[in-house]
Amino acid sequence: MKRATRVGLITSGGDCQGLNAAIRGVGKALFHRVDNIEIYGMFDGYRGLIESDYKFMEPKDFSGILTEGGTILGTSRQRYVPGKDIVDDEGNSVIPQMLNTYNRLNLDCLVIMGGNGTQKSAKLISDAGMNVITLPKTIDNDIWGTDTTFGFQSAVDIATNVIDYLHSTASSHGRIFVVELMGRDAGWLTLQAGIGSGADVILIPEIPYDLNKVADMLIARRKAGRGFSIVACAEGAVSVDDVKLDEEESRRKRENSKHSTVSYEIAARLEQLTGQDTRVTVPGHYQRGGPPCAYDRVLATQFGVAAADLIINKQYGRMVAIQGGQITSIPLADAASKTKFLPVDHPMIQVARDIGISMGD
Ligand code: F6P
Repeated sequence: MKRATRVGLITSGGDCQGLNAAIRGVGKALFHRVDNIEIYGMFDGYRGLIESDYKFMEPKDFSGILTEGGTILGTSRQRYVPGKDIVDDEGNSVIPQMLNTYNRLNLDCLVIMGGNGTQKSAKLISDAGMNVITLPKTIDNDIWGTDTTFGFQSAVDIATNVIDYLHSTASSHGRIFVVELMGRDAGWLTLQAGIGSGADVILIPEIPYDLNKVADMLIARRKAGRGFSIVACAEGAVSVDDVKLDEEESRRKRENSKHSTVSYEIAARLEQLTGQDTRVTVPGHYQRGGPPCAYDRVLATQFGVAAADLIINKQYGRMVAIQGGQITSIPLADAASKTKFLPVDHPMIQVARDIGISMGD
């Protein structure tokens, strides 16, 4: 009998919607298309690979999970030393332990699903001699080389829904609402949900904001008879003054601030500047939870099937991607070396500006 093809599955980093759909896509396609296949699911992200904590997966494990949020394999974050190593709490490299599990199971390939941090770690794992294929997942949509990631559209739908619901209470009370959406480094989610929900102001990390300008716009809105306003603010939004601070100064400012997050700081200042009652809503991890939307189910399935194709063709060291509507793959080295920030001249930002949304500048 032909030697089995052995594949390890890993979901790593912050979870998002569509991980189970992607696991299902990989598993079903491999069982369907490869004669003798063995699949091992590593528990809790890279931890399972490090500690040899895994389960042998049968075809039935890939059924009934398409619509489930989270990941049936669990996930975790590992300490990553930029470009150099993945280490434990004592600072010791864990790559030898990973290699040990990989070799002991006689794996042909690892399929690793994750965001930016995971892609970087996967590149190191690939450099250490393990065959790796990655899938891009994150609600932030900030992975380089792919037009979109699974999880993103589901989070956009949730964030849009949150703002839809806030409109009625904002209107009844004539208040300003600052809604803080996820996205530490990139504003894709906030821009899309802000436009989708009719926000009046959208603040993203890529465009430093000036609250005097935002307040002028909000005051003008009220004068024009619009009694309430919605500010969609990315968690990584930064002011024109704070963007000049270096890393150490920013850390000190955050530690000494009486506000827990940027949106509380913005709300307090806007209330002062406009004299209008202002509230904050932070949906937080709610944006990453629950079932994937239909778009993400389909995308994650397509990505999973594409990963199976790469395994069948022994094309390793690549990340599955979607570009111009076509499923493709790119070198992992490219995906792992850059972050896909929102270009400030992106047409979608112009769409927002053209309908009178303030981008805070
Ligand atoms: O990268 C995805 C993300 O959801 C970010 O938007 C957010 O800043 C971060 O993860 C939150 O991380 P954690 O799950 O560790 O709180």
